[in-house]
Amino acid sequence: MVRAKSKLIEIDRKSESTTNTPQSAASVRGLSKRFGKSSVLENISFDVAEGEALVLLGASGSGKTTILRIIAGLEQPYTGKVILHGRDVTELPARERGVGVIFQSYALFPKMNVEKNIGYGLRIRKRKRREIRETVDHLLELVQLQEHRKKFPSQLSGGQQQRVAIARTLAYKPEVLLFDEPFGALDTQTRVHLRREIRALLRKVNVPAIFITHDQEEALELGDRVAVLNNGHIEQIGTPYEIYNRPATEYVATFLGAANILEGVVRGNYLEVAGSKLPAVLDREKFRDGDCVKIVFRPEDVVATKGDLLRSGAHRISSGIVDEVTFIGAYERLRVRLATSVDECKTQEEPFYLTTETPERRPSTSISITRSKPEANTLRLSTGDRITLALTSFTVLPIPRKPQSRA
Ligand SMILES: Nc1ncnc2c1ncn2[C@@H]1O[C@H](COP(=O)(O)OP(=O)(O)OP(=O)(O)O)[C@@H](O)[C@H]1O
Ligand SMILES: [Mg+2]
Repeated sequence: MVRAKSKLIEIDRKSESTTNTPQSAASVRGLSKRFGKSSVLENISFDVAEGEALVLLGASGSGKTTILRIIAGLEQPYTGKVILHGRDVTELPARERGVGVIFQSYALFPKMNVEKNIGYGLRIRKRKRREIRETVDHLLELVQLQEHRKKFPSQLSGGQQQRVAIARTLAYKPEVLLFDEPFGALDTQTRVHLRREIRALLRKVNVPAIFITHDQEEALELGDRVAVLNNGHIEQIGTPYEIYNRPATEYVATFLGAANILEGVVRGNYLEVAGSKLPAVLDREKFRDGDCVKIVFRPEDVVATKGDLLRSGAHRISSGIVDEVTFIGAYERLRVRLATSVDECKTQEEPFYLTTETPERRPSTSISITRSKPEANTLRLSTGDRITLALTSFTVLPIPRKPQSRA
């Protein structure tokens, strides 16, 4: 299968097609990696299309840089393959792969001005003077540094230096662009600005790109797709929308933004949760009657009301008591203690709470809600108020059955 696909891409490239092919331009297949006895990557596979930006998101030590180093040829995988535009490059040395790598520290040549830096790769490849000049002019325009072309790196801002680094890499038309925490050294404002610029730039140059970040907001904004890594394996890969709204695992749910988790029991077309029935259409292959499940929802997926009048599309889950009200600028955050909880399903392990915004208590007792300004103004709430809680959206995750409960 993979082979047939690779061939197609090769044919496509040979015919000098410049159209945007939806096929994979860069792929890794079944990568694993060990350092001594410890396994740091397990069976990593993904594809990146021409012009697509894939973000690898994961905690420190999850294996992000190792994946990039393997693609770049700086590290050999234990098993698996790296395929760039249909060519298996796994055995090729780094310099023959045509991979552009942009690291956090841009490592420009300090004694060369901007245009010399950008043209460097072409000069060592012995390209014609005119070709070099035309490429450099084009790239300077692309990264909007025309008026800075004679400056030296020390005379540029961090963001400008990073743009030079990108232009320098683009000059030799890389097969794939790899970015390892490219904005790490910049202040928040420059980061946000530069990542938008780079995103727009990548759409123009139509090169597949892989970004590493551990900043969730950056991942959502930058990536056409995001791969969430945990301890050397991919937990989920999907569009930012899918990853955020339909997390496949509890790890993904809690790693990416704040998540509330309640336990429930499957009862036909309903979930029994905290004393209420929540309608849910479930995959009957995965979920059976009587199964304990986790109901995962975002703080903004909860509607708080006084009394029992619910807005349409929202499903009651419980009543609760407001424990805390915090004003955080654009919205308000409430911490609510639920009046009832499901005792039937005690989870064996403590849930992951990796983000600071995720409630740190037991999942069935306290949840976090965010309300926009208009919502907060319509119904003012303060500590001690009793409210009714309803969900507008949620995801259901299975809880593995305990062996003894099967009998
Ligand atoms: N050369 C090496 N020798 C031994 N162990 C290594 C080596 N390189 C990386 N590791 C280990 O592999 C794991 C993954 O490292 P990697 O640098 O890929 O993580 P990362 O996801 O990029 O983390 P960070 O966000 O901190 O940069 C870590 O546990 C690290 O200690
Ligand atoms: Mg790293």
